[in-house]
Amino acid sequence: MAAWARTAVVVVAALMFPALVESVVRHYKFRVVLKNATKLCATKPIVTVNGKFPGPTLHAREDDTVIVRVVNHVQYNVTIHWHGVRQLRTGWSDGPAYITQCPIQTGQSYIYNFTLTGQRGTLLWHAHITWLRATVHGAIVILPKLGVPYPFPTPDKEEIIVFGEWWKTDIETMINKVMQVSLTPNVSDSHTINGYTGPVPNCSSKGFTLHVESGKTYLLRIINAAVNDELFFKVAGHQLTVVEVDATYTKPFKTDTIFIGPGQTTNALLTADQYTGKYLIAISPFMDTVVAVDNLTAIGTLRYKGTPAFPPITLTSIPPQNATPITNTFMDRLRSLNSDQYPANVPLTIDHSLLFTIGVGVNPCATCVNGSRVVAGINNVTFVMPTTALLQAHYYSISGVFTVDFPGNPLIPFNYTGTPPANLQTMNGTKAYRLKYNSTVQIVLQGTSFIAPESHPIHLHGYNFYVVGKGVGNFDPNNDPKNFNLVDPVERNTISVPTAGWTAIRFNADNPGIWFLHCHLEVHTTWGLKMVFLVDNGNGPNESILPPPSDLPTC
Ligand code: C2O
Repeated sequence: MAAWARTAVVVVAALMFPALVESVVRHYKFRVVLKNATKLCATKPIVTVNGKFPGPTLHAREDDTVIVRVVNHVQYNVTIHWHGVRQLRTGWSDGPAYITQCPIQTGQSYIYNFTLTGQRGTLLWHAHITWLRATVHGAIVILPKLGVPYPFPTPDKEEIIVFGEWWKTDIETMINKVMQVSLTPNVSDSHTINGYTGPVPNCSSKGFTLHVESGKTYLLRIINAAVNDELFFKVAGHQLTVVEVDATYTKPFKTDTIFIGPGQTTNALLTADQYTGKYLIAISPFMDTVVAVDNLTAIGTLRYKGTPAFPPITLTSIPPQNATPITNTFMDRLRSLNSDQYPANVPLTIDHSLLFTIGVGVNPCATCVNGSRVVAGINNVTFVMPTTALLQAHYYSISGVFTVDFPGNPLIPFNYTGTPPANLQTMNGTKAYRLKYNSTVQIVLQGTSFIAPESHPIHLHGYNFYVVGKGVGNFDPNNDPKNFNLVDPVERNTISVPTAGWTAIRFNADNPGIWFLHCHLEVHTTWGLKMVFLVDNGNGPNESILPPPSDLPTC
C-alpha cells in the first residue's frame, strides 16, 4: 500500500476512535537515485528522490510523527534536512551533514523520525550536503489538526509550486572544481517552476501550467528551493493574498508580487476572478548589487478551464532585478496573525544580545588561481566543517571537534557598511555559541560591504524567530530598538537581511542541541557563512536531547 493510502486508513481510524488516536505516524521511503530528468534538458542524469524532480511531497498534520527511511543509491554521500521543522529534542533527525549527523554513505540508509509539534503550513525538505539540494528537494505540507479550520477562507483547491535552479552541467563536478581553485561558481542556466525550465536556448520545455476554474479559490503553497537566488513571483492579472510564511500564519494581505528567498515558503490565496484565458506566471531574480546572477525569467501559464485552443496570453511586467523597494514593501507588510489561537510569543527581555556581521572576505591561498580565496564568515569567523558530526561530539563529550568561543559581537567593531577595511582576512574555526536552555536571544544580523554588499537569506535550524526590526546602514543600538515591533512581528525560519543593512531577530532557546545558522545562498554557505549554537539541556528528560537512534550513520 502506498504511504499516503496507508496514512488515510489511519486517519479514518482516528475519525472513528478519536479518543484512541491523538496523532498518527506517517511512513515514507526516500530512495536517492540517479534519474534522467525529462522535463529538463540535462545531459546527464540528476540525483533525485524516488526518481522525481521536484521530489515527493510529505503530507502530514500538526502533531503527527513522520518517519522517513532514506536509502542512498547514488555515488555521493547524502543527508536530508526538513527545513523549518522544529525537531524538538530530535536534532538527530535535522540533517545538516557533519553538524547533526554523519552522511548516509552509498548503499546505506538512515531513518529520520520527528514530530510536527505545534506547526502547520508549508515547509520544504532538501539534501543538506554539498550542492545536492539543487535537485534533491520537495514540499512538506502540514495540515492543521483534524477538525481545525484554516484562519482564512477555505480554498477550493491547493497547489504546490516549487521554484528551483537548473545547471546544464553536472553541479557536483562544477562546484568541486570551482572550490579547488577558488573561482566563483557558475550561475544557473535557468530557473525552474515545478521542474520545468523557462525558455532556454536549445531546450524545449513545455513549461508549467496551473489549471484553474472560474470563480474558484486556490491555496498556492509556494516554495523557493533555488540554490542561490532570491526570487520575485507574479501571476498576470491576479492578486495574491498572503496568509502564511514558513509554516506560521500571517495577517492576510493582497499583493501582485511575492518576494521569496531560498528556504522560504509562502502560502497565498489566488481567486480565478478574471476572464477565461491564459495568464503568464513568472519568476525572476532579485539582486540589488554588483554580483552576477542568473537573470533568466522562468515562465509558466495559468489557464482557465474552457479556454479556447490558441488564446492570446495576458502578460505581466517583471520587477527590475534591483527592485529593492518591492522587497521592502513585501517584508514590511508581513505580520504574525497574533490571534488568541495563534499568539506571537515575542521574547520581551533578552539574555543574550548578539551582533553578527555577515559577509564575504578574502584569505590568502597558495594553490588558488589568484593567490587568494574568496571566503565568507560571521563575525569574521569562516566556519570550518568538522569531520565528526558536532551533535555526536557534544552528546558524547568528544573533545577537539569544536570550541565554544564563537564571538557574540564583532571582535573589532568598524563601519560595517562603509568603505571596507584594508584587511579583508577572516579567521578559520569550528566555533559554537553556547546558550542555556530557555534563555532568550536577540541577534542583529548586520550585512557588511566587503567586496560587494549583498542581501543574505539567513536560516536558523531548530527554531522559528521573530523579525522585530530591520534597516539600512549600520544598526544603531541606542535608537533602532525604539522602533522594534514586539507585538506582531512575523515569525519565520529564514529571513532576507537587506543589502548593506541589518535585521534583528529574537527567539527563546527552548530546544536543546546543536543548531546551524547559515546563509541559504549555497555559494555563501560553501564559502563559510555559517556557525552553530549549542543549546544546553534543561532540567530532566523532557528538556533534554533524546538518545541517538541506533542507525545513526558514522563518519
Ligand atoms: Cu534549508 Cu541548513 O537549510
